[in-house]
Amino acid sequence: MFRINNKIAIGLTLLAFLTLTTAFAQSNDTNPLTGGVDAEAESMEAIKLRSGAGDPVAGKEKSQLCQGCHGEFGISTDPLIPKLAGQYGNYISKQIRNYQSGARSHQIMNAMAGTINDEDLADIAAYFASQPKMKGNGSAGNPLGKEMFLHGDATKVKLACVNCHGVKGKGLDPKISMFPVIGGQHKDYIRRQLVIFRSSDRTNSPNGIMNKIANLLTDEEIDALAEYVSVQ
Ligand code: HEC
Ligand code: HEC
Repeated sequence: MFRINNKIAIGLTLLAFLTLTTAFAQSNDTNPLTGGVDAEAESMEAIKLRSGAGDPVAGKEKSQLCQGCHGEFGISTDPLIPKLAGQYGNYISKQIRNYQSGARSHQIMNAMAGTINDEDLADIAAYFASQPKMKGNGSAGNPLGKEMFLHGDATKVKLACVNCHGVKGKGLDPKISMFPVIGGQHKDYIRRQLVIFRSSDRTNSPNGIMNKIANLLTDEEIDALAEYVSVQ
């Protein structure tokens, strides 16, 4: 299952790369990648797919330490500690492996990631992933951020965020764990990640895709995007 999903995900990144280098003028409504995803109504099946192979019940016990910072149900209160509620299980696992190997660095998380075996990691990831998806306050948000998110910038960012992160940043599809949920995430956390992708202090996205995208963004656009994404 994991293998098949990975192949789909790799295929999608390739597709994404092809579209990055050509003009991407399709509107949100007609884009085959984003059409039909209903971010609000989630089936049990979708939640299961998003959670990955782990056991969420076992994961609740095993994630006590993590809950201390990320919240009992994956809703953290500190704006620089990411919410994990409804995040893809396989994305959570990938990030933990990246913190362990040093591919992603952060003083606290490099220590927290510790030495965790595959089974425990899958269970912990499934626990947070199976929670109701993180949510913002639902306001309309920043107009520049909305425009950038849905359509990009015709002169620079050809591939808008929605093409990979899905409608309202809620993910593209329950089976495609490569593109994290960002809608409803803390504004300060989103802003910081975009800034460190741009400065290449974070380089763990596949093929450096987020570095390429963030490199094209101004401070004003980063603020606007962070504001728009966080209220979704
Ligand atoms: C002392 C507080 C603290 C504890 C305990 C903690 N974390 Fe974190 N976690 C953070 C902070 C801060 C970040 C943001 C790091 C960054 O900016 O790279 C983070 C980031 C993450 C991310 C990246 C999320 C994303 O959206 O990319 C994951 C996954 C994660 N933590 C999982 C865990 C798990 C699993 C545990 C338990 C084993 C845990 N954390 C324990 C503070 C904590
Ligand atoms: C071609 C696909 C693609 C596009 C377009 C894209 N992203 Fe991403 N983004 C990714 C992938 C893949 C990751 C996961 C990186 C990883 O595995 O660490 C990511 C990660 C992120 C993260 C970090 C999330 C976290 O929890 O740490 C943020 C924030 C983000 N993207 C914002 C954006 C914004 C804003 C845009 C539009 C300007 C955008 N992305 C456009 C593919 C994309």
